[in-house]
Amino acid sequence: MKPYYLTTPIYYANDVPHIGHAYTTIAADVLARWKRLSGARVHFLTGTDEHGAKIAQAAGAAGQTPRAYLDRVVAKFQELWTRLTVTPDDFLRTSDARHIGVVQKIFEKLLKDGHIYLGSYEGWYCVPDETFWSESELKEGKCPTCGRTVERLKEESYFFKLSAFEAPLLAHFEKHPEFLQPKSRAPEIVQFVKMGLRDLSVSRTKVAWGVPVPSNPAHTVYVWFDALINYISALGYDPAAPGALYKEFWPADLHLVGKEIFRFHAVIWPAMLLALGVPLPRTVFAHGWWTVDGEKMSKSRGNVVDPHRMADEFGVDAFRYFLLREVPFGADGDFSAKALLGRYNAELANALGNLLNRVLNLLEKNFDSALLPAGTGDLLPENADWARAYNDALDRTVFHEALDVAFGLVNRANKYAEDTAPWKLVKTDAPRTHAVLTEMARVLKVAAVTLHPFMPTVTEEMWRQLGEPRPLGAEAARALAGGKIQFDPGQKIRKGNPLFPRKEAPKP
Ligand code: MSP
Repeated sequence: MKPYYLTTPIYYANDVPHIGHAYTTIAADVLARWKRLSGARVHFLTGTDEHGAKIAQAAGAAGQTPRAYLDRVVAKFQELWTRLTVTPDDFLRTSDARHIGVVQKIFEKLLKDGHIYLGSYEGWYCVPDETFWSESELKEGKCPTCGRTVERLKEESYFFKLSAFEAPLLAHFEKHPEFLQPKSRAPEIVQFVKMGLRDLSVSRTKVAWGVPVPSNPAHTVYVWFDALINYISALGYDPAAPGALYKEFWPADLHLVGKEIFRFHAVIWPAMLLALGVPLPRTVFAHGWWTVDGEKMSKSRGNVVDPHRMADEFGVDAFRYFLLREVPFGADGDFSAKALLGRYNAELANALGNLLNRVLNLLEKNFDSALLPAGTGDLLPENADWARAYNDALDRTVFHEALDVAFGLVNRANKYAEDTAPWKLVKTDAPRTHAVLTEMARVLKVAAVTLHPFMPTVTEEMWRQLGEPRPLGAEAARALAGGKIQFDPGQKIRKGNPLFPRKEAPKP
């Protein structure tokens, strides 16, 4: 199986992580876990974006060096990912020496090859914020972040010849329709490139906290130019001698990003790679944004959703599930704790949790907790194609369709329980009842495997309660490849606590 490399954006280190960050990261984690379950070698990268005047200012205000300040704020991201059972293989910080070295080598190579040249940059400068703004970024002629007066300034700057890549980019989009995803967002990028690309200013003389340009240390590298390189610096890319991880995993299979940073990833990044002569990633996928109760999330509105609070209230698994169930990946969506509670009770507690309880109770009461090796075949006939449908949905990053596969089976099993009424049937036909219950248990086994990437903890518990003798991870590859779903001779269930205890709406 092909190795699989996927990335999230690297997050601005001094942001407080919120559901937007959690969304991209959890989506990536689901894919990483699914690929690992299927038996692939996976490299899943996330990290933090740590350069720029704002970070230096925040560090100064805290009376710390940037790196010391960053160690503390970056820990908030790392703690959140651990809490949310996110399993990155690497966490890159742009202030890491291993990253800085690669940025410098790339900058010098592009300079030498004529893709970067020295020119001058003119814009509106906010002195207190030490930030340049373009005309269109200003708010009523003032600095968009602090609202203070800006002045017109000209500074020497290096430029990347982005304009030279219009035709090659358009040719790539044309030849590789899988590059810009989802399809609905591709036209906006194609249009943008067709309108003409301007060379990009890629260095600053006024931002001290950045990667110095080796041949001209009065300049530091523009943060976005620096940040995008993380996707290859993390693999040990070196223009002269690429490292082993780079050789194994590049080009990336998937860069997951939010829609507001699609252009950086779908235009600037591939142009940089083309200039370097490095192959382009297979897909850049831009997902939508969450609003909260219909409003944009912002600190000033005070409506920023804290992922820790959602995990406290509903559990990590249910929170992860909800983010990927509620809206089709790619579209915008509205986050509400009420909707989460609704899905928790209807889908997790009732449909899934109750099915497990029902089946285990009846097996315990009537069959001494034993499963049969095979069921009736009514729900999962031979050659059932749930695995194909599931793999195909995740391959296209259509998470809700993958969840439909699992819940489609769960719902059919619940209906089957109503139709066959095993609690009655057992009085007249015990052998058939045993097969019926085992059939429902087979569906639960498939549910545990398919839902595992989404809800890693609770599905392990399901697996345990089903009495599975081998680890879920060890059996899943076979199941996902379309293998038989059966039980060991003599396998006994181990009833435990309910997976999702019902929750009441909090009192207003
Ligand atoms: N540092 C840059 C990325 C550099 S990548 C080379 C950056 N960082 S960020 O901290 O702002 O995080 C951006 C990620 O969080 C994006 O994927 C973005 O879409 C996601 N979200 C931030 N707010 C969001 C919502 N309200 N809803 C969904 N995702 C959003 O940009």
